[in-house]
Amino acid sequence: MKIELIDTKKFDVKENLTVKFITPERLKKAKFKKTLQKAGFSAEQDTIYGMHGKSLLFCGIENHDTQNLKTAAAAIAKAVKGLAYKSLSIEVNEKSIRPVIEGFILGGYEFNNYKSKPKSSKVKKLYLTCEDVKALTQAFEEAVVVSEATCYTRDIVNTAPDDMHPETLAKLAKKLARNNNLKCNVLNEKALKKERCEAMLAVGRASRHGSKLIHLAYKPKNAKKRVALVGKGLTYDSGGLSLKPATSMVTMKMDKAGACAVLGIIKAVSELKLDVEVHAFVGAVENMIGGDAYKPDDVLVSRKGDTIEVRNTDAEGRLVLADVLDYAQDKVKNPDYLFDFATLTGACMVALGQYTTGVMGHSNRLRHDISKAASKAGELTASLPFNKHLKKQLKSEIADICNISNKPYGGAITAGLFLDNFIKDENKEKWLHFDIAGSAYTESPWDVNVHGATGAGVRFMTQFLQSLK
Ligand code: BES
Ligand code: ZN
Ligand code: ZN
Repeated sequence: MKIELIDTKKFDVKENLTVKFITPERLKKAKFKKTLQKAGFSAEQDTIYGMHGKSLLFCGIENHDTQNLKTAAAAIAKAVKGLAYKSLSIEVNEKSIRPVIEGFILGGYEFNNYKSKPKSSKVKKLYLTCEDVKALTQAFEEAVVVSEATCYTRDIVNTAPDDMHPETLAKLAKKLARNNNLKCNVLNEKALKKERCEAMLAVGRASRHGSKLIHLAYKPKNAKKRVALVGKGLTYDSGGLSLKPATSMVTMKMDKAGACAVLGIIKAVSELKLDVEVHAFVGAVENMIGGDAYKPDDVLVSRKGDTIEVRNTDAEGRLVLADVLDYAQDKVKNPDYLFDFATLTGACMVALGQYTTGVMGHSNRLRHDISKAASKAGELTASLPFNKHLKKQLKSEIADICNISNKPYGGAITAGLFLDNFIKDENKEKWLHFDIAGSAYTESPWDVNVHGATGAGVRFMTQFLQSLK
């Protein structure tokens, strides 16, 4: 659907449905109060009533808070799909423009690539009418870029694992680089061998698809900050020889959501033309079984040189990230920030529920700044604290570190602490790890999310990067 910002006074379009937000308070004084009440419409949050004789659609909101406007816009986007109007119009102002756009684009999102007869909506256009187009143009453009980048991330995550494997993910990154003027370098298995990325290579060994390390870079002329982003790109996680039970394996195409998030972020940043140098690194690997599979009991030598005892091949993301984080820190010298995004642990969902991204790292200040950006962007995050006792649980009797903890508690944090082992001293305070295992994918709608990928990370990280001075 196309969205256009237009002056209310100049707006005159036929076959248009006018959408109005209404609070229960305002309903008491509404012109059509009696009709609305007869129809049982009491302006409850996210409820919809259409007066088609008047080409009017009412959507209830508790009050004009951002979050309420956003879910209301999402409800509208869903409700109008079957209607036979050519266009919709919604009056917006400085405060409501962003939630309306985000709610509409993200809440109306559908992934139809595998439907042989996708239903197409008749409504082709959304007009956002306002009093001062000039004053709202920047907010309008920013909200569209961020929402579309989130949908771009969702599309990749939602793509089936046989269509989106390491080779196709690398192709897609190259295409993004061409379209958005980014630098792109892809390491194949031969190059990864040369780089001694043995931990990452072991995870992908039983796959018929070659592992790839993808590096995209956005380098504006007057960059004020330099940021490295790393994404876990398990295009499928069967668990490997520590095979997942059948029901846990379903949805594991989403194990590439960290990778897809960093692609979406660099897309947004380059389109917003932010004055921040951004590097996106992706470890694209498929974790499979077979005669060539890596095994529990194997000892791997990581790129850093530390040896890793494998006790569970399903804790594979951290092995891939260990090498990609090490590579990223060599390629991006003296970064201001280093962030990784990963669907790393089921334990993160146990700790925080499936809606919240787990944030781990050493810098309280940085965690605070991210939390602020997330609140502003409308994503849920929460901090999970490191401690030295949990770190001891990764001790190995035969190697430098073990890939799983020896105790069944605190699994999200011990995974974060495993990654911490591969963060160089000079970067400790600059690094945060985001566990998006719960927040990246959903099988039932919530907030502005529909079934499937949510695009977790794109909005809060873009917001954070926009806030850098
Ligand atoms: N990709 C999974 C984590 C995951 C689980 C993401 C559910 C999204 C939903 C990860 O590779 C994994 O399997 N982790 C194990 C670690 C364990 C073996 C220590 C887990 O969480 O069970
Ligand atoms: Zn796994
Ligand atoms: Zn995984």
